[in-house]
Amino acid sequence: MSEPRALSREEASRLRPPQWKHACHALLYAPCPGRLFGKIPLRFAVLMQMRFDGRLGFPGGFVDLQDVSLEEGLNRELREELGPGAAFLRVAECDYVSSHVSEKPQQVVAHFYTKQLSLEDLRTIEDQATRAKEHGLEVMGLVRVPLYTLRDGIGGLPAFLTNTFIGSAREQLLHALETLQLVPREQLQKAVTVAQKRL
Ligand code: GTP
Ligand code: MN
Ligand code: MN
Ligand code: MN
Ligand code: MN
Ligand code: MN
Repeated sequence: MSEPRALSREEASRLRPPQWKHACHALLYAPCPGRLFGKIPLRFAVLMQMRFDGRLGFPGGFVDLQDVSLEEGLNRELREELGPGAAFLRVAECDYVSSHVSEKPQQVVAHFYTKQLSLEDLRTIEDQATRAKEHGLEVMGLVRVPLYTLRDGIGGLPAFLTNTFIGSAREQLLHALETLQLVPREQLQKAVTVAQKRL
């Protein structure tokens, strides 16, 4: 599979279906005051999903020609994959972050969004996720991303980053962790370096 390439939203909008398929995915996160083992600050709850293909990715999916807009398609996919707990959720154009193209195995433009929720709202989504239409089908379960690094230098975020991710999901995650300042920059760079050595 070739490396996904970043491009602007304007460039992306010129890549038309049916030759190009468009998909939208969202990173949902909430400030999280808890501490692991009463010690390690959790900082934020960041949601990803284990997909049907065994790879990690974000909730979302292909935007059909029936969807009026990218965001409408994304919100439909979020309801299908996250279930009734996401009924309140509306990801909007202002939540847009980036677009990537990949040519193989098919020509796909992947648009990425991020949205901050309250921890209460995020927990409502988690609580009801097993009632989603796609639970056990496209989605095998939601996971929170560990944002800390344990004292062994590997446990936590570095080990998480050694998983297999779909498409440009790993790049999307790292970009969001940095720009939203969910992980201190130095700690993030170190986690990436450690993960690279173990891959
Ligand atoms: P189907 O109904 O089975 O087609 O699934 P879907 O509509 O939910 O689509 P899916 O979420 O699998 O994503 C559509 C395309 O985007 C596929 O080409 C995936 O490879 C890619 N993709 C899936 N998840 C992510 C993600 O989190 N980030 C990125 N960048 N691409 C993704
Ligand atoms: Mn225990
Ligand atoms: Mn999907
Ligand atoms: Mn889907
Ligand atoms: Mn779909
Ligand atoms: Mn589907």
